[in-house]
Amino acid sequence: MKQHFINNRWASPASGESIPVVDPSDGQVFEAIARGNTADIDQAVSAARAAYEGDWGRLSAMERGRLMQKLAQKMSDQAEELAQIEARDCGKPVKQARADAAAVARYFEFYAGAADKLLGYTIPYQNGYTVLALREPHGVTGHIIPWNYPMQIFGRSVGGALAAGNACVVKPAEDACLSLLRIAELAAEVGFPAGALNIVTGYGHEVGDALVKHPGIDHVSFTGSPAIGKVVVRAAAENHTPVTLELGGKSPQIVFADTDFDAMLPVVVNAIVQNAGQTCSAGSRLLVERKAYEEVLARLSKAFSQLQVGPSSMDLDCGPLIRQTQLQRVAGFLEEAGRDGLAIAGQGRIVADAPSTGFYQAPTLVRDVPPAHRLAQEEVFGPVIAAMPFDDEAGAVKLANGTAYGLVSSIWTRDGARQMRLARKVRSGQVFINNYGAGGGVELPFGGVKASGYGREKGFEALYGFTVLKTIAIKHD
Ligand code: NAI
Ligand code: MG
Repeated sequence: MKQHFINNRWASPASGESIPVVDPSDGQVFEAIARGNTADIDQAVSAARAAYEGDWGRLSAMERGRLMQKLAQKMSDQAEELAQIEARDCGKPVKQARADAAAVARYFEFYAGAADKLLGYTIPYQNGYTVLALREPHGVTGHIIPWNYPMQIFGRSVGGALAAGNACVVKPAEDACLSLLRIAELAAEVGFPAGALNIVTGYGHEVGDALVKHPGIDHVSFTGSPAIGKVVVRAAAENHTPVTLELGGKSPQIVFADTDFDAMLPVVVNAIVQNAGQTCSAGSRLLVERKAYEEVLARLSKAFSQLQVGPSSMDLDCGPLIRQTQLQRVAGFLEEAGRDGLAIAGQGRIVADAPSTGFYQAPTLVRDVPPAHRLAQEEVFGPVIAAMPFDDEAGAVKLANGTAYGLVSSIWTRDGARQMRLARKVRSGQVFINNYGAGGGVELPFGGVKASGYGREKGFEALYGFTVLKTIAIKHD
């Protein structure tokens, strides 16, 4: 059994219990992780507090940056090992896991360089005063990580928090913990002080809940479902703990008839197929100008028919979904679409050698999805794209903004003025023009509006969220 990693040591769970770790490619158990509880969280929060008030908190910003750079280098050196761990644990094609390993190293590199460049400012005030606005760390930050991109989401969340000077307690998803346990071990190896980075594994409703409710946690960063996002905010409210929420989306890819289709097609396909559609920023809705609708669908249908799904080790276009219940959820959306008479316009195939016990879903293009249909409104979190036509810019904007979510949008057109008009009108945290950035962009601030959440991670902006501003007014005359 893999234990928790607390205070730079492996720590056995207070419960003495474990949770089996399943390989989504074949459904078989190959490892176990610790089933954490409140006692483990107490221990981790104490360790983090001691580090914050001790060896970690004492480091200058420059020294923190140097340590983070060492860890970035170490993760780069161990990238293949990390990728193999992640591929098996999450069922990702190995090339996706390699991209994730490169990304987590890059996050640490980026935030390592930013650690000593996070400036406060001075404020003109009454004569006789000097007023400083200082950016200070929250203290001990809690990070609840989902299973879709453990390394990447750890990188963007914990990377920013550490750079800003916080000590961290991390709760990975029960379905995917292994890469983060290894990274914590690497952090200890490169010299992170004990307690700066702690990992406690277990179920969300047990250990995640204990983390969010702990009075020693000064800030929570949560990435996951809107339903649990609400649960987390309510629980955190008990101690007035601030929360950053990233809750997924139903992101539109808006395609006008003047688009360069050859350039657009592979990007649009990748935006939904990447990580088997289990991406918060997946481009899961395709809105196409009516006069180009049939042509785009015909081309997309052909592209989908060529997609192959199989075990992570085969490194195909798509791996399995994370677990059986997720497969059932995605299949449920498609069954409902079928019952409602919606037509499948293209579908990939599961390769013959894929184990029948794995959690495979063929990538599916569904056409003419009514805008109010559940498939056009809710996050499927699988390789399913809902296509629908629009007639003009106003219609495109209405469809784009017509869900509860607002995470990412893409706009495909050669018309520069239209690009800007639409970019200003769509309600989402990010807009990509003639490209799509699902999963990319360490440097680019990322986060949602509406049900997609609030707060920003990634980029320099994240550092503001991982600090609190303190105003110091000095009267000297
Ligand atoms: P989830 O929201 O339950 O899990 C995300 C994280 O929250 C995990 O680490 C989990 O252990 C933790 N968690 C669960 N209950 C908690 C609680 N009461 N207190 C604190 N932490 C808790 O997501 P789940 O059930 O794995 O996936 C369901 C759906 O959520 C997916 O189909 C997808 O639509 C969405 N989702 C979105 C993600 C995103 O990147 N925005 C990531 C994962 C899921
Ligand atoms: Mg797993």
